Amino acid sequence: MAATKTPRKKATPRATPRRGLSILVLSGPNLQLLGVREPEIYGTETLADVHARLVARGAELGVQVTARQSNHEGELCDWIAAARTEHDGILLNAAAYTHTSLALFDAIKAVGLPCVEVHISNPEAREAYRHVSRIAPACIAKVSGFGTDSYLLALEGLVRWLERAGSGRQAPGARRKAR
Ligand code: DQA
Repeated sequence: MAATKTPRKKATPRATPRRGLSILVLSGPNLQLLGVREPEIYGTETLADVHARLVARGAELGVQVTARQSNHEGELCDWIAAARTEHDGILLNAAAYTHTSLALFDAIKAVGLPCVEVHISNPEAREAYRHVSRIAPACIAKVSGFGTDSYLLALEGLVRWLERAGSGRQAPGARRKAR
């Protein structure tokens, strides 16, 4: 009996599911006191409220947001280092460490992830010792002076930056998480 060839099924192109972006939001020393700390400068919203707004806005944008706070420089460095394989970008309000921390500058440079410097107040319009940012040269952008909305605006800016990066642009030395 002559062998009859069964027509081969046409291969259907397998859709590659797009992994959502993941953003790490870090806040430095004394920001756990938001809401009670100098409300005339930092407002009355708590850090927990800010984190909840970031997570909600992230969900609207299809982005996963993880938010943490520490009073310890080394812990912030540890979290930045771990972000290299876990997240696509970082929002960092380093608080007073902004003005002093070479260690945080080095950590951001080391991981090569796009990082946005965030401030609730506008440090340049305050005391002279707040005018210097040690971390700014390691960051892609800075959002400051919009109250706690600075975090939200920074999230939107970073997501847009990352979406553009997806079509070719990357932070210098950036190592993206495997998709
Ligand atoms: C701050 C500004 C810093 O100068 C200050 O040390 C802070 C908060 C801000 O969010 O406005 O702790 O980072």
